[in-house]
Amino acid sequence: MEPETRRGYGAQMKNPGPLFQPLPLPCGVVLKNRIAKAAMSDSLGDGRGGPTAAQMRLYERWADAGVALSIIGEVQGDPRFAEKPGNLVLAPGADEMRLAELARRGSAGGTTLLVQLGHAGALAHPPIGTPKGPSALDLPGLTCAAMTRQDLEALPGQFAQTAAHARRLGFGGVELHAAHGFLLSQFLSPLFNRRTDRWGGSLANRMRLVLEITDAIRKAVGPHFPVAIKLNATDQLEGGLDEDEALDIIAALDAVDLDLIDISGGTYFPGAPASSDRKTNGPYFIDFAKRARSKTTIPLMVTGGFKRRSEAVEAVEWGAADIIGLARALALDPALPRRWHSADGGDPEFPRFTPGPEGGITAWYTLRLTALGEDRTPDDTDDLHAALAAYETRDRERVPHWTQRFPIQGQRTLEDAPVPFVPVVGGGAGWP
Ligand SMILES: Cc1cc2nc3c(=O)[nH]c(=O)nc-3n(C[C@H](O)[C@H](O)[C@H](O)COP(=O)(O)O)c2cc1C
Repeated sequence: MEPETRRGYGAQMKNPGPLFQPLPLPCGVVLKNRIAKAAMSDSLGDGRGGPTAAQMRLYERWADAGVALSIIGEVQGDPRFAEKPGNLVLAPGADEMRLAELARRGSAGGTTLLVQLGHAGALAHPPIGTPKGPSALDLPGLTCAAMTRQDLEALPGQFAQTAAHARRLGFGGVELHAAHGFLLSQFLSPLFNRRTDRWGGSLANRMRLVLEITDAIRKAVGPHFPVAIKLNATDQLEGGLDEDEALDIIAALDAVDLDLIDISGGTYFPGAPASSDRKTNGPYFIDFAKRARSKTTIPLMVTGGFKRRSEAVEAVEWGAADIIGLARALALDPALPRRWHSADGGDPEFPRFTPGPEGGITAWYTLRLTALGEDRTPDDTDDLHAALAAYETRDRERVPHWTQRFPIQGQRTLEDAPVPFVPVVGGGAGWP
C-alpha cells in the first residue's frame, strides 16, 4: 500500500494551538477542543442491537486520546429501519447496563459522546428490515415502499423518545443523521422525495420532517443537552440536493435550537457517480462551510477529507469550521489527537487502494475498527475483496440473531431479498 502525499490546502506546517481551544455549544456544554471523531457505523454491535466489549474499548481509546466529541454512527430507534445488523438499537428492552457502560467509557476524560440517531429509510438493510422512504422506488438493488402519513406523523415522537433514552443512559448528546442518502436526507432530496403532500415538493415541505423531528427532540431532552445534525452540502447526484438548497436548509435551521451542524456530502445510492472522479486535494467541504457561515450562528463541524493537522488548524484558524470531523484518520490512527497536540505532530498515512469491489473500502475501514476495538494490530493488507467478504459474512451471520430479537411482520427472508445494496461512491458517502 502506498501512502498518499499531496500539496495544497493546509500544506504549511501550523501551530496546533487553534485546534486545542475549547468550543462552547449553545446548550452550555463546552467541548474541550476542536477535534471530533465523526460518526462511523462501526459494525461492533452484538447483532441484537446491544454493545460489545470491543465497541466499548474502541470508544474508550478515542476518548483516552483526547477527542472532544465522539459520535457513534447509526444508532437506531426503530429496528425495522437499521442500516446494518451491527447497529445499536435504543428501544424498549435494550441492554441498558451495557449501553450505560459504553456511554461512560466513551466519555472518559471529558469527551462528549453523542449517539447518531439513524433511520435508513429506503436504504434499510433488506434482510433485517422493511425499506421505506419518502416515495416508492423500484430500481436494481433498491426497492422500497413509500411512507404513509401515519408513519410520518409518528416519526418526531419516535426520534424524541430515542433521544430521551440516550440522555437517560448517560450519553452526552445526539446527532440527527440527515446526510448520505438515509431517511432524512431522502426527504430533503428532490430526487428521492416525490411526494405531493405537505412533506414533498417545495424545499419548505421537504424540510418539514427534519424540522418537526429536531423540534420534538429538543422538547424531549431539554435546553442543556447537545443536539447536532449531520447534513449534506450536496448529494453529489444529478437532480439531488445541491449546495444552494443546502444553504437554504442551514438558514432555516438557524432558527431551531441546535448546537452543531455537521457538514458532509455524498449519497449511498446505486448509480451515484464515483466521487473518486472528483478533485480530492484537501478537505472537501471548506468552501461550502464558508458560505454556510453567513447563514447561521450555530457552530459548524466540517467533516470529510481532513488528512493533515495543518489542514485542520487552517480550517479552524480561518473560521471555516468550529470543529473538525475526522473519520478515516481516526481509524488509521486512534491516538491522533494526542499526536496533533504534541509539538512534532505527525499525520496518518492514508492507504491508496487499487480499484476494488464496491463497498470494499468501507469494509476495509470497518474491519480496522474491529481490530482497534480488540486491541489487535490491524492487518497490513489492502485486499479489498477479502475485506468485503469478511465484512459481509459477519453481517450475514448476525441476521438470524437480529430477526430473532426483533421479529418483523411481512419481512423478506434472506433468499427473496434483493441483492444487498452496496455504496458505489468510491467507498463511502462523504469520501472518495
Ligand atoms: C467505515 C465508515 C463508516 C461510516 N459510517 C458512517 C455513519 O454511520 N454515519 C455517518 O454519518 N457517516 C459515516 N461515515 C462517514 C464519515 O462520518 C465521514 O463523513 C466520511 O468518512 C468523511 O470523513 P473522512 O474523510 O474523515 O473519512 C462512515 C465512514 C467510514 C469510513
